[in-house]
Amino acid sequence: MAESMSGLKRSCRCAEVTSNNIGEKLTLMGWVQKRRNLGSLIFIDLRDRSGLMQLVFDENVNDKALFEKAETLRSEFVIAAVGKIRKREGAVNPDLATGELEMMVEELRILSESETPPFPIDEDCNTKDELRLKYRYLDLRRPNLQRNLMMRSKVCTLVRAFLADEGFLEIETPILNKSTPEGARDYLVPSRVHPGNFYALPQSPQLFKQLLMCSGYDRYFQIAKCFRDEDLRADRQPEFTQIDMELSFVDVDDVIDVNERLLAKLFKEVLGVEVSLPIQRMTWAEAMDRFGSDKPDLRFGMELKNITDIVKGCGFGVFTGAIEAGGSVRGINAKGQGAMPRKKIDALVEFAKGYGAKGLAYLAINEDGTYKSSFAKFMTDEELKNIVTALEGEPGDLLFFAADKNKVVWDVLGALRLELAKQMDLLKKDEYKFLWVTEFPLLEWSEEQNRYVAMHHPFTMPMEEDLPLIDTDPGKVRAKAYDIVLNGTELGGGSIRIHQNHIQEKMFEALGFSMESAYNQFGFLLNAFKYGVPPHAGLAYGLDRLIMLMAKEDSIREVIAFPKVKDASCLMTDAPNIVDEAQLKELGIKIDEEALKADSDK
Ligand code: AMO
Ligand code: AMP
Repeated sequence: MAESMSGLKRSCRCAEVTSNNIGEKLTLMGWVQKRRNLGSLIFIDLRDRSGLMQLVFDENVNDKALFEKAETLRSEFVIAAVGKIRKREGAVNPDLATGELEMMVEELRILSESETPPFPIDEDCNTKDELRLKYRYLDLRRPNLQRNLMMRSKVCTLVRAFLADEGFLEIETPILNKSTPEGARDYLVPSRVHPGNFYALPQSPQLFKQLLMCSGYDRYFQIAKCFRDEDLRADRQPEFTQIDMELSFVDVDDVIDVNERLLAKLFKEVLGVEVSLPIQRMTWAEAMDRFGSDKPDLRFGMELKNITDIVKGCGFGVFTGAIEAGGSVRGINAKGQGAMPRKKIDALVEFAKGYGAKGLAYLAINEDGTYKSSFAKFMTDEELKNIVTALEGEPGDLLFFAADKNKVVWDVLGALRLELAKQMDLLKKDEYKFLWVTEFPLLEWSEEQNRYVAMHHPFTMPMEEDLPLIDTDPGKVRAKAYDIVLNGTELGGGSIRIHQNHIQEKMFEALGFSMESAYNQFGFLLNAFKYGVPPHAGLAYGLDRLIMLMAKEDSIREVIAFPKVKDASCLMTDAPNIVDEAQLKELGIKIDEEALKADSDK
């Protein structure tokens, strides 16, 4: 039977009790973590979001009724306990903030009972993800998730204070918007008032924040919910949060400066980690060339080496074929991995194929200086020597090579480099390597759409010196765009925006939009730009990714209170769900029965 807490007032949270409270009578409330009976003594670990406090019941001190009540306590009961704080008489727990203290209970109330939870509420939890997410409200009681969400709250508080200090205004932008086809797939919301018409949920506040600059707000920020209907991964959710900002009368260095100071403050205050400023910068071209990635993990080397010139006349058709087709041959050196068993190498070849490789050539340098290789027999000694020198190979090393179009070679070796680093245990979670990647290509050719698409978004400013190329060689134009990368994760990205209509028109032309269709979609922005627009720029962080890395987690699910799973559903609420016929009728919507059946057959 649940009792009332009336007449009791909680003194503080469990782990806020200190040795200064010894001798004081306190009231604590929380969940029963564990009960241990030791003959005439009962120990309860009482838990709340701050931590644990040990409660003691003693048959020789407490009256019988109280002791018997303590015997009925089970895991996850919610209780209130009143008693004196004392130094622990039994074993001290050095791992616990309150490990030297305990409460000798004088009054106990059971505020709420609990059924046996479907999994233990422990720090480490081996329970299957599906079960954890179905009972997310229990999962969220686990100390590690509580720490993550408390860290997230602290980061948001610090961000707000820092940006307010820097003259940013927090302004909300709408959630029900007009659908625009650039970017990821939109989530649509049907309109009841206008049947057959739809709102789109924002993929980001991009256009609105630019309009706020047109309206003179000078510096804007928002901790904004964004929605993108794309395939889920460990660092992607269909709804996620951005720390979004936009600034007027600034160039790249101004945006980078304020953001470096923001990052340094967050890492110092939350983790006690000094971020040494300025953060390293690297152009996109250099990042691809050296690491095969636009978000290189700089915690380790294993850089890509281009051996195209060395092998262009060699006798290995796989290499020369790729070069003749306009591609390249590059390699990486897995230091000290020369003795890797054939089976493991074969698995890496399969891994590479998953990234589009037709194969993966390798060369192991034996301790005696001889080679074990899939292609050495096609090479002269001179060529082999030059390849090994180019990759700084030494006895005991294992070299991998990919030959293909540049993009494939980068993708394959970029991914292989990371996979090898994982296998070789080179990735330390308490090491933080920040990097700005700059000068991204403005446009990217889409095979699917058979046209150029914006690499960042259509409002990103080209670099002035590349402007003439926009008519002649659009793929070569670099953008005033920058990403902030941390340990191989793209934390955030942004750009200088186009504020001159003639450049914007050129951009739409390059993207294959007629002015009419550009005005149809973005007319409100283009019109706003006719009335005096300041040069402006901005950036948005993925808040979830930032917290994931700060909390040393592998998935953003661990830092989001109520995340979705791979098929974008919520295992706790069962969203999305089928709605009433009447609701659909009101919206003028008919369901395609075949699509419905196909989904339920999955
Ligand atoms: P962008 O599309 O690069 O830029 O997004 C900014 C950051 O948001 C995070 N992010 C995500 N996080 C979790 N799940 C997702 N599905 C997801 N998609 C993106 C990433 C990314 O770096 N409006 C521009 C910013 C600007 O130009 O100011 C924008 O949205 O960490
Ligand atoms: P093959 O001639 O296809 O038997 O390949 C000989 C060796 O070259 C094998 O080790 C293949 O894995 C490797 N290989 C095949 N295609 C490529 C490629 N595009 N890049 C690098 N190595 C390759």
